Parts: sequence; structure tokens; C-alpha cells
Amino acid sequence: MTSIRIDDIEMAYTDTGAGRPVVLIHGYPFNRSLWNEQVAALSAGHRVIVPDLRGFGESEGSEGTATMNRMAQDVALLMDHLGIARATIAGLSMGGYVALAFYKQFAARVRALILADTRAQADTVEGKQTRAQQAEKALAEGMAGIADAMLPKLLTPETVSKRPEIVKRVRDMMLKTKPKGAAAALRGMAERDDQTPLLAKIAVPTLILVGAEDAITPVGDSEQMHQAIAGSGLVVLENAGHVSNLERTDEFNQALLEFLQESN
Ligand code: MLT
Repeated sequence: MTSIRIDDIEMAYTDTGAGRPVVLIHGYPFNRSLWNEQVAALSAGHRVIVPDLRGFGESEGSEGTATMNRMAQDVALLMDHLGIARATIAGLSMGGYVALAFYKQFAARVRALILADTRAQADTVEGKQTRAQQAEKALAEGMAGIADAMLPKLLTPETVSKRPEIVKRVRDMMLKTKPKGAAAALRGMAERDDQTPLLAKIAVPTLILVGAEDAITPVGDSEQMHQAIAGSGLVVLENAGHVSNLERTDEFNQALLEFLQESN
């Protein structure tokens, strides 16, 4: 495992390939292995950096709340450590919240943005309450209950019934997540800013991807970002839910490769 000390935590990451850097930021409650197929596809022509966000995978967690701003600062510090001034920043779901928080704080360090299965809006009042309950549940009972409840929302019914290897992979990632890390991120997602006003200020090439059957961040959320971000591209992946990079890997990778070629 490769890791560096970032403030209060040891942060694990991979750094693969050479060329213009791309940072891939995983969602909740996953880890950097979410991106294995994208690392394989992109690293032939790019330097691909994949962190485990604080509290996830092999990275240490912190007490309390892991805000999206803090996670974005962790990514910026990792880039400093690796001598990377500017990169394409890509995030899926919570990783997208972190990518938007990164753009807000460090716009000059963003060459291009990739926003997959994510949204710009903050949580609703009910959404925040659910996050608080989920954080307590994770700490009291561990991740199994959360994994069982989330799985049908993460994947299409067809994936759930016909692609056991994907179901197992997603479930295993969730079960490996440390409850403390999940709880800190849940509190952080609940506190996150509404980034809708930021969208009109985004002035870098932006690709938005979403599974046509995404039940967590539905297509409408991506359409809203697409309309607000000037010149952005939108790819809707058929037969995919929330974890569209795993359910439609070839199409997802193709869209990324084309975008990276055009935005370079
Ligand atoms: C994720 O996939 O990162 C989360 O489901 C996002 C969320 O809960 O808002």
C-alpha cells in the first residue's frame, strides 16, 4: 500500500501510468477499488491517481465529521505531495460532491471535471435526518444493515438478479468500510453546501455521466447540472443504476477516454 501523512490521517492511494493527471474520487461507502477498471483503461495514456478518502478503504479516519471541503483539501494535499499542479478531477456520487467542493476551493487546479452519478443540490431536511440515523446505525450495528438497504438502490434490478459478481463486489466494498469512516462521511454529506450556484461559474470542460436507472441521484439531477454548466457534455448510460462505472464499464470508459482526448 502507498500512503502519505495528510494532517491528522494516513491516506492510501495508487498512482498509475504517465501523462496528464486524472484523479478518480470514489463514492460512499466504497473505496478506491471502485475505479479498478477505469485505472486499467486510462493509465495507458494518463497518470491516474486514486485516493481512499478519509475513513474509507485503507485510509485512516478522523473523529466527528468528514466534510466534503475537508476531503477536497485532502485531495489537494495529495496532489501537492505528488507534484501535480493541475488535474482532471473525476468523482462518482459522494466523489462528485468532493469534486465540486474541490472546484469551489481550487478552481485553478482543475483542468477538467467529470461528474458521475452525482448532484449539485444539498440534502433536504429529511435527507439530513436520515443521514444522522444511518450514522448512528453504522456505529451501533456495523455496515451489514446499511449494505443490505443500499444494494437495491445502487444497482438495477437486472444487475441484482443476473450479475452476482457485481453485487458481491459492491457489497464487499460496503462491508469493508469502517463504521466510523461511514458515520463521519454521512455527517459530512449532510452538511455539504448547495453547489447549484457554483455550476454557472464552472469554466473548464465538464463531462456528466449518469445511469438511466440511477435511483439515488436520478437523471434529472444530471440534466440540471448539464443545463447550468456551459459547454458540458451529458452521457446517459442505459441499463445502469447508481454505480454506472461498474454496470456499464465499457461505455463509461469510452466516454471518459473520448472526453479526456477532447479536453486535453
Ligand atoms: C454515494 O454513492 O456516494 C452516496 O450514495 C451518495 C449519497 O448518499 O448522497
